[in-house]
Amino acid sequence: MSQQTSVSVEQIKAVKQEFTRFMMMYKFALDEMNTKINILQEEFQYIHSYNPIEHTKSRLKSPESIVKKLRRKGLPLSLVSVKDQIQDIAGIRISCSFISDIYIISEMLQKQKDITVIECKDYIEKAKPNGYQSLHLILEIPVFMSDREERVKVEVQIRTVAMDFWASLEHKIYYKYEKAVPAHLLKELKEAADAAAELDQKMERIHQEVESAKSKEEA
Ligand code: GTP
Ligand code: MG
Repeated sequence: MSQQTSVSVEQIKAVKQEFTRFMMMYKFALDEMNTKINILQEEFQYIHSYNPIEHTKSRLKSPESIVKKLRRKGLPLSLVSVKDQIQDIAGIRISCSFISDIYIISEMLQKQKDITVIECKDYIEKAKPNGYQSLHLILEIPVFMSDREERVKVEVQIRTVAMDFWASLEHKIYYKYEKAVPAHLLKELKEAADAAAELDQKMERIHQEVESAKSKEEA
């Protein structure tokens, strides 16, 4: 009996260690991707004298959320299914001032030789029916560890500050009403999303005018 117990304790330890190493791989992928973004930001600032990124935020999905997502999708509880089927264990959100900055950052990342683009969803070109706007990329990068190389997926969401403002309020409301948001609030949220989109377009026009005046002065 006692022997059986000690074996199972060992097994638990091994599983825990395997899971910790698995999650470390995603942490390293986030570190790498953050370094890439910092390099782009610094260099862009130097060349063009403005910063296309307002702020970035990264997060690792918690074990609880991973298990919840596996259950929701009817997937087996295994690391293989997590690695193959869940694309947002590592996530980075980049907030930009202007819509054009979103596509500049996205292009600069997609062009990098060690990045594989797994998916690109443009909810700016075509907003979700509720009004949600953002550019979503699933990028895969190599992570070199002591005994192996792994290709790891990172979800990168790029949006303007206005899109981010809207999405964070909508997210809070969605959870406050446990996903059953009253119709009048859904309507108001859609109107707010349209107003945010209009503001983004106006800011973009002003930005373009200032940038072209700046380049004429420099010429
Ligand atoms: P998953 O399998 O759950 O990843 O679904 P998906 O890949 O079809 O999702 P999608 O790429 O559309 O969205 C992924 C993430 O974008 C979500 O986890 C949210 O962070 C964000 N998102 C998508 N839609 C909305 C929305 O309507 N409101 C808000 N606030 N965030 C959203
Ligand atoms: Mg997704």
